[in-house]
Amino acid sequence: MAGWQEALERQARTRAKAGLTRTLRSRPAGDAVVDLAGNDYLGLAVHPEVIAASVRALRAYGLGATGSRLVRGSTDAHTALETELADWLGAEQSLVYSSGYLANLGAVRALAGPGTLLVSDRYNHASLIEAARARVRRSSSPRTPTRPRSRRSFMPTPAAPRCSSPSRCSPSTATSRPWPSCTR
Ligand SMILES: Cc1ncc(COP(=O)(O)O)c(C=O)c1O
Repeated sequence: MAGWQEALERQARTRAKAGLTRTLRSRPAGDAVVDLAGNDYLGLAVHPEVIAASVRALRAYGLGATGSRLVRGSTDAHTALETELADWLGAEQSLVYSSGYLANLGAVRALAGPGTLLVSDRYNHASLIEAARARVRRSSSPRTPTRPRSRRSFMPTPAAPRCSSPSRCSPSTATSRPWPSCTR
């Protein structure tokens, strides 16, 4: 077995030992359950108008964006949606992402520059935590843990704070916070 496969196996065993193995369960089309776990709060996923518009778009543009937004993936439908959303919000412009996860990654990485203080708690959505970590990695600040060491470390960890005045920050003694803590 290759080294990387062994590493993955080891990580899988660690997760299993901690009772954190998760498996996918497929749902059949049109299953008659009350969905209390999904995000389709308004039932838009099965709304006849939404489905009809999706079918029209499929017929007009084909399946998938066929490319990134900057190349061939931006259609009239994207522009119409973004213009309508911006009007509705009273904003100059809007940008639609294909998932909330990507929107959070994009927004945090775009808005947080060097010296930005990111405050995030461990119960934030994984996308916000990943975005904060990615921002921290890119800006060469103190390392965040990447390898799980215990059940506790599988929990999302808060983003490392970015401090604009390092002289006022003290080294952290808490093992779950390997970055300096800010005393401000
Ligand atoms: C606050 C928050 N951000 C991001 C997401 C991720 O959204 P998506 O499932 O569209 O990627 C969710 C999903 O529940 C969420 O609640």
